[in-house]
Amino acid sequence: MSDNIIDIKGLNLWYGEKQALYDVSMPVRKNKITALIGPSGCGKSTLLRAINRMNDIIDGCRVTGDVIFHDQNIYSPETDVMALRKKIGMIFQKPNPFPMSIKDNVTYGPKLHGVNDRARLDALVEDCIKHSALWDEVQDRLGTSAMSLSGGQQQRLCIARALSVNPEVILMDEPTSALDPIATNKIEDLAQELKKDYTVVIVTHNMQQASRISDYTGFMYMGKLIEFDKTENIFGNPSEELTERYITGRFG
Ligand SMILES: Nc1ncnc2c1ncn2[C@@H]1O[C@H](COP(=O)(O)OP(=O)(O)OP(=O)(O)O)[C@@H](O)[C@H]1O
Ligand SMILES: [Mg+2]
Repeated sequence: MSDNIIDIKGLNLWYGEKQALYDVSMPVRKNKITALIGPSGCGKSTLLRAINRMNDIIDGCRVTGDVIFHDQNIYSPETDVMALRKKIGMIFQKPNPFPMSIKDNVTYGPKLHGVNDRARLDALVEDCIKHSALWDEVQDRLGTSAMSLSGGQQQRLCIARALSVNPEVILMDEPTSALDPIATNKIEDLAQELKKDYTVVIVTHNMQQASRISDYTGFMYMGKLIEFDKTENIFGNPSEELTERYITGRFG
């Protein structure tokens, strides 16, 4: 049994005429954190979105190649995209809780998928909010609006919401770039906790963050995956000169 939960193979992606990903092949290892780094516009978010077909909603977006998840190419016509996005959830740069109570944010997905037993929903709320390291801060105010939370709390609530539908993989696109250092720390610690039960892929501009929290790192440049390796190798002893130049800040 391979320890890759996802295998990206020869992935090309176009926005209309413009090609944004070139022949990207990369594994995503189960119960690890994989970071995607590289300069602005290199295709990090594009690659992340390609992993759960979030790019389906972009007009004129076309994909070739495979993203293998559970022995199946997610781009095959048989894929149930809603089910796929339950299994591979996404956290965005800007926290985007629903304008409803803290509790309702977490029960929204499960209810949509047919869970309506009160006791089960309550247990799920507690479990997911504990899992996202927010419980101590909100257990007394589950009925209040999610919009009253701080940015960092909102982001952890979004993680709780993603967990509520029992995912296997959590994709995070610069989840801390709108947060202060303390809130950022909490999300980084949380990612470490989450990898015990889930697999995390995180896009980050912050190389210290990538080296602090990830097990594997992919360095991208102009739509290509230049190098993928264990994080310690990418930051300690990269094989490619481009990677070396990027991580040492000597980028022209
Ligand atoms: N919806 C879209 N339509 C057309 N082109 C797009 C779209 N989204 C991204 N692109 C283009 O694809 C390329 C890769 O963009 P992407 O957003 O993946 O980069 P990124 O590495 O995430 O950058 P950043 O670090 O700034 O977030 C860029 O040239 C961008 O302009
Ligand atoms: Mg991006």
